[in-house]
Amino acid sequence: MAIIGNDISQAKKLLLEGELVAIPTETVYGLAANALNPEAVTKIFVAKERPSFDPLIVHVASIDQAQEFVTALPDKAIQLAQHFWPGPLTLVLPKQSVIPDIVTSGLTTVGIRCPDHDLTRQLLNELPFPLAAPSANPFGYVSPTTAEHVNNQLGHQIKYILDGGPCRIGLESTIVGFENDKAIIYRRGGISEEEISNIIGEVNHQLTSSNPVAPGQLDSHYAPRKRFFLGNIDELKKDHAGKKIGILRFKDGSSSLEEHLLVLSKYGDLEEAARNLFAALRQFDQMDIEVILAEPAPESGIGKAINDRLKRAATK
Ligand code: TXA
Ligand code: MG
Repeated sequence: MAIIGNDISQAKKLLLEGELVAIPTETVYGLAANALNPEAVTKIFVAKERPSFDPLIVHVASIDQAQEFVTALPDKAIQLAQHFWPGPLTLVLPKQSVIPDIVTSGLTTVGIRCPDHDLTRQLLNELPFPLAAPSANPFGYVSPTTAEHVNNQLGHQIKYILDGGPCRIGLESTIVGFENDKAIIYRRGGISEEEISNIIGEVNHQLTSSNPVAPGQLDSHYAPRKRFFLGNIDELKKDHAGKKIGILRFKDGSSSLEEHLLVLSKYGDLEEAARNLFAALRQFDQMDIEVILAEPAPESGIGKAINDRLKRAATK
C-alpha cells in the first residue's frame, strides 16, 4: 500500500526521481508523473492498464507555464483560461515538441489545465516540469475522489498519495478544443456549457466515442462493477423484480425507506450531487446487491455532466 500524507517535499522528491505520485485536484485525484519524461509517463499507462491511444492531461501552475508547451493560443482559449483557471477546464491546443508523443498518444495537440487545489498548485510551483496526470483509477473504472479511493485500487502501484481531502467538484474537468476558431466541448465536466458560452459565445460539442479527436471518450467508462441501469426507478424495479437491487436517487423522494438506497443530494442540489456521485458508485460495489437502478439528474448546468457519467456507467 502507498504512504498517504500531505508532505509536498516527499511528493516532489519522488516526482524528480521519475516516480508516480497521486495528487489531489478539485475534480478527482490524478496519477502524476513528470510530463517531459517519457519513461516516467510510461509508468502511468502500466499502473492504470491504460491503452496507449488514450492521451493524458498536462497540469501546469499558470497560463504563463501553459504557453511554454503550446504553439498557439487562440483568443477564446485565453479568455477561457483567464476566467476559469485555476479550475476544472482542460484546453486542447497544438503542442510544442517538448511534450513527448506518449503523453498525447501521438496527437499534435495536448490537453492542458491548471488545477485548483492548494497542495497541488504549491507542488507545481516548486517543480521544474509540468505533471501528466490521468484520473488515478484502473482504466475504465470510476474516478477517485478521496486518497482512500486511490489507495484501495492503485496503492500497490504507487509509493505516495498526496492527501488533499475529498475533491470539491467530484467530476472530471470539462475538455474544450478549437477548430477554425470554434470552441468544441469534447467532454462535459466541472464547468457547464452555459458558463463557457457566457464567456465566449456559441460552443459546439462532440461527445461520442466515434470522435477520433478525443479518443479516450469511450462510451463504457466510469463503470462500477455491478450492472447499472438508468431510467425511471419505478419502471426499472418492475424489470428487475426478484433481484437484489441498489437504488441511486438524485434527491430524497417519498420512498426513502427503500433498502440499499443512496441519495446524491437530499434537497436536489446539483453541485452536491456531483461531489457525491463517484463515492456512491464505489459504495454500491461493496453492497450485497446484483444491480444498480439509477435516475437521471435534471439536464441543466453540471446536471448534464452527471447524466453523461451515469449514461457511461450504464453502457456495457
Ligand atoms: O479533471 C480531470 O480532467 C482529471 C484530473 C486528474 O485533472 N483528469 C482526467 O484525466 O480526467 P483522464 O486521463 O481520466 O481523461 C483525460 C481525457 C482523455 O481520455 C481524452 O479524452 C482527453 O482527456 N484528452 C487528453 N488529451 C487530449 C487531446 N490532445 N485531444 C483530445 N482529447 C484529449
Ligand atoms: Mg479517467
